[in-house]
Amino acid sequence: MRDIPFGKPIIGDEERQAVGRVLAGTTLTHGPLVKEFEAVFARYTGAGYAVAVSSCTAALHLAYFYLGVGPGDEVIVPAETHVATAHAVELVGARPVFVDSEKVTGNIDIDRIEAAISPKTRAISVVHYLGMPVDMRRVVKIARKYKLFVVEDCALALGTYLGGVHAGLLGDVGCFSFYPVKHITTAEGGMVVTGIKDIAEKISRQRAFGIDRNIVSERPVPGVYDVVELGLNYRLNEIGAALGIAQMKRLDGFLEKRRENYAALTDGLQGIDGIELLRSSHDEYRSSCYCQAAILEDSLAGKRFEIVRYLKERGVGTSVYYPHPVPHLEYYKRKYGYNASSFPVAARISGSSIALPVGPHVGREDIDYMVKTVKEAIEEVSRNE
Ligand SMILES: Cc1ncc(COP(=O)(O)O)c(C=O)c1O
Repeated sequence: MRDIPFGKPIIGDEERQAVGRVLAGTTLTHGPLVKEFEAVFARYTGAGYAVAVSSCTAALHLAYFYLGVGPGDEVIVPAETHVATAHAVELVGARPVFVDSEKVTGNIDIDRIEAAISPKTRAISVVHYLGMPVDMRRVVKIARKYKLFVVEDCALALGTYLGGVHAGLLGDVGCFSFYPVKHITTAEGGMVVTGIKDIAEKISRQRAFGIDRNIVSERPVPGVYDVVELGLNYRLNEIGAALGIAQMKRLDGFLEKRRENYAALTDGLQGIDGIELLRSSHDEYRSSCYCQAAILEDSLAGKRFEIVRYLKERGVGTSVYYPHPVPHLEYYKRKYGYNASSFPVAARISGSSIALPVGPHVGREDIDYMVKTVKEAIEEVSRNE
C-alpha cells in the first residue's frame, strides 16, 4: 500500500543548515534575513514591494488595518474560501458581504459582485481558489468604477499568473501564506505584496507596533524609537525567513512537479464517471496547481465520506477545500443569519468535493495509483447502493 499524504513540506539540508546558522547566532528577530526574503520574493513575483509577516491571516488583517476600514464599512468576500479571508474583515469591525462562486472555476462569481456593492462598501477581496486565477481585469474594472480597494488572497496562489502577471499584483495588495502544506513554507508565515510604496511602508510599520524604525540596526541609540501610528506585532522571525529563502530557490522545481502531477491527475480523473473538475475560464493563465478538487456528481455526493474513507484506508490522503462556505460556519450564521440554502454554488463545492494532492512529494506512480483507487472507490460505493 502507498502512503500519499495530502500535503508534505519538503525540507532538505539547505533549509536545515540555514535554520541552524540562525540558531547558532544571536539575531532571531529584526535581522537581515527577513529583508533578504522580502527582496527574493519581490524579485520572483515581480512585485514592487514585499513585506514579510507572521501569516496570511496577519497579511489580510494588515491590508484592512492599513485601509482604515472599520464599523459601518463593508467588504466583498467570496463565500468559498478559508475563514481567514472573512475573519480579517471582522477583525477590523467591518462586515463581510459574501458572494457565491462561479460554477466553472470555483472563484468568486464576478457577475454577482456589483449587486453586492452598497454605499458602505470599501473593498473587494478575491481568492484564487486552489490556485486558479480570478479574472482580475474584470474585478479591477468594477473596483475602479466604485473606487474600491482590491485585496487578493493568494494563500494558494504562489506561481499563479494571469496574462503573465503574478497573482497579488493585479489588485492593490496580495497576501500569501507559507503554512506547511503551501507551495513553500516558513512553518507559519506570510507576505504582503504591492506596487504602491505608501502601502508597503505603512504596512511594514503596522506589522511592528507602528514603530518608526523597524530593525534594531536602524536605531542610532539602541532601544530608542518613536511610534508614529497604531500597530500590531505580526513580524516574521529570522528562522522563518531563513527557511523561506532556501525554499524560494526550489520553488520553480516544486511548481514544475505540481504542474506535471496536476496535468496527469486531471487526465486520469476526466475519464471517471460521476466526477466533475473545475477549470479556468481564461486562456492566458497559469495555475499554481495547489491541488485538484474532484467534485462528485449529485448521485455520489452523499457517499463522499465513504469514498474518503476508502481512499484513506488505501493510503491516499485527501482534504476538503473548504469544509463549508464561510457564511455557513456557525459564527457567521449566528451573526448574520445566513441559512443553508444561501450560496448554492459554494455549498455544492464544499459539500461534494474531495481535494486530492499534487504537491512535489507526489510521484508519477502515486498519481496512477490515486486515479485507480478513486475509480475503485466509486465503483465500490455505487455497488453498495
Ligand atoms: C484562501 C486562504 N486564505 C488564508 C489562509 C490562512 O493562511 P495562514 O494560515 O497563513 O494564516 C488560508 C489557509 O489555508 C487560505 O486557504
